[in-house]
Amino acid sequence: MPAAAEIHTAARAKPAPNAIRLLKNDHREVEDWSDAFEETSNGPRKQKLARQICTALTIHTKIEEEIFYPACREAGVEDDLMDEAVVEHGAAKKLIAEIEAGKPGDEHWDAKVKVLGEMIQHHVKEEEQMGGIFSKARRAGLDLEELGQKMQARKDALMKRAKARR
Ligand SMILES: [Fe+2]
Ligand SMILES: [Fe+2]
Repeated sequence: MPAAAEIHTAARAKPAPNAIRLLKNDHREVEDWSDAFEETSNGPRKQKLARQICTALTIHTKIEEEIFYPACREAGVEDDLMDEAVVEHGAAKKLIAEIEAGKPGDEHWDAKVKVLGEMIQHHVKEEEQMGGIFSKARRAGLDLEELGQKMQARKDALMKRAKARR
């Protein structure tokens, strides 16, 4: 490992996962919360889960759009894939804004959280499946370790900001 990377890693509490691992971990986390949302009928619990899902997805789509997708484009992964992903992010962001503006018991609020979960499921499949963005990124020879460090740092900063806003 080069010295610079060593210092960077040592400065962190734990080393950043590689870019794809980081994004997949986010996917699994949101899927778990979506499942938990479906399983509970407790209003405050639903509200808490919805907030967690929305915050995590907002940050996740940001680091994909700011760092990961541009790196994929630069490495030669077909633009079509990322174009479609960004449009899907846009649809999710609209729903997230409506969910964040509402609360349990509001008309269609529950349905919106469920639909968001379904949209994410579809989107995640497209990123993770064979021939999807992640497998093409791997084949394009991106430096996933370096990218992961950058993305983790950005994610940490965005999380800190989101917590301060609450
Ligand atoms: Fe993703
Ligand atoms: Fe995405």
